[in-house]
Amino acid sequence: MIRLSVNVDKVATLRQSRGGDEPDPVAAAVMCENAGADGITVHLRGDRRHIQERDVRLLREVVHTELNLEMAATEEMLRFALEVRPDQCTLVPERTEELTTEDGLDVLAVREELPGYIRRLKEAGIRVSIFSRLDPEQIEAAAEVGADRVELFTGPYAHARPGEEQEREFGRLLEAAELAGKLGLGLNAGHDLNLRNLPRVATLPGLLEVSIGHALISYAVFVGLERAVKEYLRALGR
Ligand code: PXP
Repeated sequence: MIRLSVNVDKVATLRQSRGGDEPDPVAAAVMCENAGADGITVHLRGDRRHIQERDVRLLREVVHTELNLEMAATEEMLRFALEVRPDQCTLVPERTEELTTEDGLDVLAVREELPGYIRRLKEAGIRVSIFSRLDPEQIEAAAEVGADRVELFTGPYAHARPGEEQEREFGRLLEAAELAGKLGLGLNAGHDLNLRNLPRVATLPGLLEVSIGHALISYAVFVGLERAVKEYLRALGR
């Protein structure tokens, strides 16, 4: 069974655009869980552009499935995660100028610092996933630094032109998934997934979880969260 973790950042983006308290990402999370979602994801960014610390604390109280906190591997975020204790932390690169996360983390560049960082999260009972680039050396480095899982960056596949380019990008995902399996890493996937590209991504061997935000929340604007979540579950073969 592939778990669906719904990223509710975009609900907070809408709220922040008016500075009030609507729409509430915590209420969205409850609706997603009631519709069958297996988890809730939020990204607490350094610039706090959408999700706020208070949201994560409230979500920790309210979410009954799994709370996945995406975060940059900084000391500030480590302290916060150790206090709030999400079920999973996904380590991501972060740039203030970016509209959204643009690539997986360059694990090779931080291979000295990450083992201690990851150990502290794991000692607190938090599962650690690394939002990973697809190169074999990056996946191997994720295993070496002690991650439990890697989240494969599905953006390039999602944006590839149908035909040769798409096949090449899917081949890269497949090889990365197989390597993760051989190394004993659990497998997540995410970014730019939608109802069209999800069924094929769901065939990746060993896939445990997908994290989906933008397309699902955009669709929910028209059909409602409950129906959107149910259709995404169906696209996962559920
Ligand atoms: N996974 C990671 C690591 C992300 O940073 C994001 C975007 O916040 C997602 C998944 C979800 O991507 P999307 O909003 O395109 O579904």
